[in-house]
Amino acid sequence: MRKSFDTIAVLDFGGQYAHLIANRIRRLGVYSEIHPNNVDPALLRNCRGIVLSGGPSSVTDENAPPMQPGVLQLDIPVLGLCYGHQLMAKILGGTVTRGEHREYGLAAMRIVADDPLFAGLEETQQIWMSHGDSVEDPPEGFAVLGSTPDCRVTAMGHAGKKLYGLQFHPEVTDTPNGMRVLGNFIDICGCCRSWNAETFKEEMKRDIEARCNGRRVFLLVSGGVDSTVAFTFLNAILGSDKVMGLHIDNGLMRKEESTEVICYLREHGFDNLQIEDASREFLSALAGIVDPERKRTIIGNMFLTVQEQAQKKFGLNADEWILGQGTIYPDTIESAGTQHSDKIKTHHNRVDLVLELIEKGLVVEPLAQLYKDEVRQLGEQLGLPHRLIWRHPFPGPGLGVRVLCSDGKTAAISEADERQVGALAAADGFSASILPIRSVGVQGDSRTYAHPALVSGPRNWKALEALSTKITNRIRGVNRVVFALSPVCGSYRLIKADLSPERLNKLREIDHLVTEALHASGEYDTIWQMPVVLLPLVNGRGDECVVLRPVKSQEAMTARFYPLADTTLSTIIEGARKIKGVGDVFFDITHKPPATIEWE
Ligand code: XMP
Repeated sequence: MRKSFDTIAVLDFGGQYAHLIANRIRRLGVYSEIHPNNVDPALLRNCRGIVLSGGPSSVTDENAPPMQPGVLQLDIPVLGLCYGHQLMAKILGGTVTRGEHREYGLAAMRIVADDPLFAGLEETQQIWMSHGDSVEDPPEGFAVLGSTPDCRVTAMGHAGKKLYGLQFHPEVTDTPNGMRVLGNFIDICGCCRSWNAETFKEEMKRDIEARCNGRRVFLLVSGGVDSTVAFTFLNAILGSDKVMGLHIDNGLMRKEESTEVICYLREHGFDNLQIEDASREFLSALAGIVDPERKRTIIGNMFLTVQEQAQKKFGLNADEWILGQGTIYPDTIESAGTQHSDKIKTHHNRVDLVLELIEKGLVVEPLAQLYKDEVRQLGEQLGLPHRLIWRHPFPGPGLGVRVLCSDGKTAAISEADERQVGALAAADGFSASILPIRSVGVQGDSRTYAHPALVSGPRNWKALEALSTKITNRIRGVNRVVFALSPVCGSYRLIKADLSPERLNKLREIDHLVTEALHASGEYDTIWQMPVVLLPLVNGRGDECVVLRPVKSQEAMTARFYPLADTTLSTIIEGARKIKGVGDVFFDITHKPPATIEWE
């Protein structure tokens, strides 16, 4: 079917945030969709332009993700980024070398030739680089368009064939004029910037109707932004008689959350929503489980089991229904849902059972290509209220991944790491030790599961940020750093602890206190989200410690920790003291990467 708007295809070579490219292009008003790296060129014929993404591999490796050379012969403009730039150079006869100089972070590029790709830009540009290999010589017919002191071929282009390669990443905000460059490429492609949420809705309606093929949609509605927008959207497209929502209370929700979700949706006229209290089933399946990935898998599978039971209970014929999910793009990429990406964590809507249903064409996911900002935009268009759309993201496995569990056995901490952490901290006027627990991180596009370091000393956020970066860059066994908000007396003891109702209630109370404090101070809308994490670590009084994790982010693929106002912190610390069994309060001072937003 010919689409009513122009499309730019992004070929995916596996980078974690290379996928922002599609989001950025859509923001510029052109529809963009993601294809696997080895896509058949014939499928790209109707596209106006093609972007080759970055990725973690080296084009000099034997098993590096390839591309069919025909992609470069379609007579369609192509823009290669980082790995894509090197691959284009290699396929067309240029030379790529494993660089002596690795370049990570900011660099200054000098534009050395006039080309429409850099139209409107000053001669020197700040760019963001992350590469080891470099293009040494561009292919025949290509001109060098930009260079940095360490990378001669930072930008290259063949104006006649409209083929371009950039070593840097225009899709990240650290390249301030990156959007301008992508916009220039869109113009080179001759695209009409007509894509918006309205056109998206029309296109999705056609797509969903085709996928449903007469069947109705049974959607799990947690009440978070994604599932509520997906539910509202499906109701608008298919009609409420063709959709049924099911809210499952899995015992891992926040304080009073299930009741509020149901009341809210019913008040807004959704009478096709059922509720199922499955907290007992979830908690008994999770009893004694401490490994984060096992918890995630059990929770994801349990959602499907309860959904099947509910369908039977309501007398619905399974053949007439298809499963709906509010999955968004980062859920897929971080669950290694694309061919060359690493699994950071299994999102609840990407467990094996769901993947099997997807294979059979039995799942409909209207938001699967979107990032959170696009979901929110769609929600606004659908008339959902501000308070709901701007709720902080809350993970499907809920408090299940915020209550850390332990079998009581300490994972070995290297003595050398412990010494080095102490020395790095002391050099900056702090003291530090390594905690006997672990959390998930993402480093160099890969998953890590390592220890946090605990730092104490003056509350100087700038100095703490620098120290946190130093520690996680230099010490392999540490992927996260927390700061003690009150003086540390003695050491903390690891305890055997699982997802008990008592621990969940403890976290519910402090999480509620934190949310109220954020609303009262006005910081709720400033930050992206703020997980509160309960640790299986007790202080001298035998009370369990908690971590505050406020972050700022644009789409959760990268994030920066956010120092809350002193007054807000005082309110939280005061309040925490009054909650029975809650001990010392720590503050997470790690960006993503190297740590993920959630601890598990
Ligand atoms: P991380 O912890 O990977 O989280 O930096 C990125 C964003 O995703 C949310 N998150 C989830 N959302 N199901 C979801 O729907 C999940 O299983 C899940 N795990 C993490 C997280 O809260 C953050 O906003």
